[in-house]
Amino acid sequence: MTWQAAWEEGRTPWDAGKSAPVLHSILDTLPEGRALVPGAGSGYDVLALASEARSVVGLDLSPVAKMKFEEFAQGHPHRDRVDFVVGDAFDYSPAEPFNLVWDYTFLCALPPELRPQWLELIDRVLHPDGELAALIFPVKPDADPNEGPPYPMSPELVTKLVSPILVPISVSAVEQSNPGREGKEWLGRYRRK
Ligand SMILES: C[S@@+](CC[C@H](N)C(=O)[O-])C[C@H]1O[C@@H](n2cnc3c(N)ncnc32)[C@H](O)[C@@H]1O
Repeated sequence: MTWQAAWEEGRTPWDAGKSAPVLHSILDTLPEGRALVPGAGSGYDVLALASEARSVVGLDLSPVAKMKFEEFAQGHPHRDRVDFVVGDAFDYSPAEPFNLVWDYTFLCALPPELRPQWLELIDRVLHPDGELAALIFPVKPDADPNEGPPYPMSPELVTKLVSPILVPISVSAVEQSNPGREGKEWLGRYRRK
């Protein structure tokens, strides 16, 4: 099934209905300026990141995702700090680079053969002083690496994948997750080499 069809048919089992708890605990430590959330879905994390000091672009293939975002964002104090773009992340070229890219369940949604393109996207959009923060999920050491989505992730896999351009700032297990995701999330924060 395509992502478009999944959204149109309301088959969105990945949608937690709220942003990731760990994101709230690190908000103040993340770069300000411009942030990008590729594969933003309903945009819970997009809104969590938005502030007076940080504008956010949410990017998703699906117009239905954008509609969900618009419903959820109604009345939010920082709605005007968000631009939700419908489009293919792999064709996306921003006019200005981003100080932060937040990946949560976008990388794991992609078939393994698209991972080099995901890294090209990060390289294309990230400011020289920017940070990639990846909430690495689902960490399932015994799962078949080719079975997904979601394709199993690990901190080692992501750190190795980004290593041509990025080095770790910190990589650690997450202590607080939304229900059903406990013990399966790691936070990897990376800066340019
Ligand atoms: C597993 S969902 C995660 C959504 C959101 N991050 C969340 O945590 O709820 C993956 C999302 O990526 C979007 N997506 C998949 N491929 C994409 C692409 N090439 N460009 C932009 N969005 C894409 C899908 O439409 C879907 O909303």
